[in-house]
Amino acid sequence: MMTLFLDHRGEVTVKLTRVLSRMAVVLLFLLSSPAFTQILPENPARGEEIFRNKGCAKCHPARGEGSKIGPDLAKVDLGNTQLDLAAKIWNHTPSMIKEMEKGTIARPTLTGQEFTEISAYLYFLRFADERGKALSGEVVFVEKGCSTCHVRSGRGSGLAPSLDSFPSNISPVFFTKAIWNHSLEMMARMVEIGMKWPKFMDSEMIDLLEFVKRNARGPEEPAFFRPGNPRDGQKVFAAKGCVKCHSVHGEGSRGGVDLGQTARTYYTSLTQIASTLWNKGPSILVKMTQAQFGSTNFTSKEMADLLSYLYFLHFIDGPGNVPKGRTLFVQMGCSNCHGLDAKKGKLTYIDLARYRDAPPTEIVAGMWNHTIQIQRAIGEQGLPWPQIQKGEMADLLEYMRTPTENR
Ligand code: HEC
Ligand code: HEC
Ligand code: HEC
Ligand code: HEC
Repeated sequence: MMTLFLDHRGEVTVKLTRVLSRMAVVLLFLLSSPAFTQILPENPARGEEIFRNKGCAKCHPARGEGSKIGPDLAKVDLGNTQLDLAAKIWNHTPSMIKEMEKGTIARPTLTGQEFTEISAYLYFLRFADERGKALSGEVVFVEKGCSTCHVRSGRGSGLAPSLDSFPSNISPVFFTKAIWNHSLEMMARMVEIGMKWPKFMDSEMIDLLEFVKRNARGPEEPAFFRPGNPRDGQKVFAAKGCVKCHSVHGEGSRGGVDLGQTARTYYTSLTQIASTLWNKGPSILVKMTQAQFGSTNFTSKEMADLLSYLYFLHFIDGPGNVPKGRTLFVQMGCSNCHGLDAKKGKLTYIDLARYRDAPPTEIVAGMWNHTIQIQRAIGEQGLPWPQIQKGEMADLLEYMRTPTENR
């Protein structure tokens, strides 16, 4: 009996150790992977200051104003993620340096944190949509049935809040908040009159907002003046229980949709996220009621932060792939000068070991800060400037930051 018991215990212990060591590996991986908290900015507007101070605005117009030497970065495709943006900057570096030399503009150096802030700012240029069209918005207001219950002036109607009670600086955030705070009531009324939950496509919500704004006379809502704080939004995501059903790039609950995975397909602007949340709102709410989450009411600030966080999921890269990165490192010729797996390269050996386990944005900054030297070395060899395509930067950096023995 005794030995059996010991055997049994022994086996359990072995299993537990295995589980624990596997958990330790997972934990290590999470800690060393580009955890979003590290790159979630607190205030995307701070990046604008750095963008100006570093002289980027000497060549790039910001919000359509200023110099036209470089392209308007609100209008170009900046790629899907932060590291795609880094690849864009890298690809265009030789022409940027040429312009700097022409205009005797000092080449700015960047830290990883500064790159993060600038990229957050550039990314947020698209967060605010172009203005909608009020005339189309009026059609939407009628066609979607909002006019059945919401009237332009509150006097005489006790059915639903009138448009003139909405904040005069109304934002998509307000609509999204309405889903969580009011949709059960709204749905009940819709069912009463045999109406289906209206859905928003393309620019319908922006147009509707423009129409509603014309008639909105309510007090201005401070939370709508600037994009929310993505870091605070992450906390809201946890506190409101979203994290109980959703994972983000594999972290969190496995049951629901991985929002990190789907973010790429439609989070192109604030109104797009708001439309998605509005459209799926009832089915999410039904699930939440079934799971007995109780009611989750949002303040405007909480909702603004949450939407900023969701927008940022699109910006955050998933973990890179080391073998793919290694192949790219060779194909792009980096290994000629930086060697491969700590072995000397064909031309020379410039060690990159200082970037072991570094956040990817640190390496991006290192590449930017050394572009003159890299360009000269590449030029001397008559090699072309390596072009990094969408998705490749994440793999390349993952290879560079992974210690040789773990590759
Ligand atoms: C001396 C002028 C100059 C400065 C300073 C400058 N840029 Fe540029 N930038 C350019 C030009 C010109 C291009 C277009 C290059 C090309 O077409 O190859 C460009 C291209 C880019 C692109 C790629 C746009 C695209 O079409 O994909 C990005 C992103 C970018 N710059 C970001 C920055 C950032 C961030 C800074 C500051 C750290 C900066 N630039 C500083 C001139 C400049
Ligand atoms: C069947 C009636 C009905 C329809 C149709 C309807 N609503 Fe509502 N709506 C309501 C009611 C009732 C409330 C207030 C609910 C409450 O007090 O909890 C409300 C609240 C709101 C609020 C929140 C107001 C606030 O002060 O926070 C917004 C925003 C809103 N609706 C937008 C819309 C839009 C946009 C449409 C059309 C797509 C629409 N509603 C269609 C009945 C309706
Ligand atoms: C009880 C589980 C549950 C909770 C809690 C929950 N969701 Fe969901 N969510 C779902 C389900 C299920 C779907 C899929 C609905 C569908 O496709 O119709 C979904 C879909 C979504 C989608 C659309 C995803 C896509 O790509 O189609 C978004 C965005 C979303 N939820 C955000 C949130 C946010 C923000 C919260 C917290 C305020 C939240 N969810 C809380 C279950 C939940
Ligand atoms: C022809 C040689 C050459 C090629 C090819 C080359 N580099 Fe470099 N690289 C250099 C030189 C020279 C430096 C500057 C070293 C210094 O001044 O400390 C450098 C610096 C760097 C740095 C910064 C190192 C530090 O100490 O901060 C990084 C990161 C880097 N390169 C990455 C790459 C990547 C990624 C590729 C391929 C896309 C690449 N390099 C291709 C020569 C090259």
